[in-house]
Amino acid sequence: MTAGTPAARGFGHGKIILVGEHAVVYGHAAIAAGLSVGVTVEATPGEGRLRVPAWSLEARAGDGSDVGRALDAIVDRLDARGLDFLADAGVPSRAGVGSSAALAVAIARAAVRAKGREDAAGADSPALEAAVAAAEAVFHGTPSGIDAAAAQSGAVGRFSRADGWRPISVLQTMTICVGLSGRPRDTAFQVAAVARLRERLPTADGILALLGRLSDDAQTALACGDVDGLGRILDTAHGLLAALRVSSPELDALVHAARAAGAVGAKLTGAGGGGAVIALAPGHERDVLARWRAAGFDGFLAEIAATEPAERIPSRAGGSS
Ligand code: PMV
Repeated sequence: MTAGTPAARGFGHGKIILVGEHAVVYGHAAIAAGLSVGVTVEATPGEGRLRVPAWSLEARAGDGSDVGRALDAIVDRLDARGLDFLADAGVPSRAGVGSSAALAVAIARAAVRAKGREDAAGADSPALEAAVAAAEAVFHGTPSGIDAAAAQSGAVGRFSRADGWRPISVLQTMTICVGLSGRPRDTAFQVAAVARLRERLPTADGILALLGRLSDDAQTALACGDVDGLGRILDTAHGLLAALRVSSPELDALVHAARAAGAVGAKLTGAGGGGAVIALAPGHERDVLARWRAAGFDGFLAEIAATEPAERIPSRAGGSS
């Protein structure tokens, strides 16, 4: 790109994990959905600066900050130095809705475009995926990769360490209520806390396996349009995550408020401790948002769009988790 040419843009989707967070770290499956909202980044010739006004964030590649180190990891792996990045963030940061992965994907896509190295089909290269994974590792230690996969895909998918991301079928478009606890969540801290719990509590592995099996159930419910069934799965998953001690008083309050406002199911989403909850409340979405706001919490609505059948529903006997 030369001066005077239009800025190169890249987009990364925000995400919610429907079920399977933490279990996915131990090889089980998780189901996540890329959101239509996310982060758009514009790359222009410059000196490696990044600005994200919505998050009051400024950094520079190699300035020693986490964001600077993540930016460095991306431009280094993509051989894309000499660019400035301006991000328009449509999702809150550190809220458990995939903001860091969305930003990393958007920066990487903008950088590749600015350097004129975009795949003719618009597909992400393995180098781009490696760059995003390296940036995510700065923030989250050794992430499973589910956030990065959802940020790239934007669809609903099943993710496991062994099989990666596979789009799955969704019979019926669903609206999801996303409630924000207002407390930032720290993924690396929560993942480490679960690892410590596994050493002290022999049943922790059984809880993680159950969460993985719920991913199979959720995949079936999504394919059949079974909203009530999916609601029960969300409720069960929240109970299991609470048993792993990754919930918090704020997350529990959001979940209970959603149920009181008519949700058929609700759970924390992402690493927990802080961050966000999701609730399924057909016909009562606005009631859920109002109840959360009355209790002092912010929230928004996200859509999970219906898709064509993409993958056979796993059989229990197959033991895919
Ligand atoms: O970064 P979060 O809050 O979306 O959590 C990611 C999901 C975890 O399973 C908790 C961690 C991981 O790496 O998969």
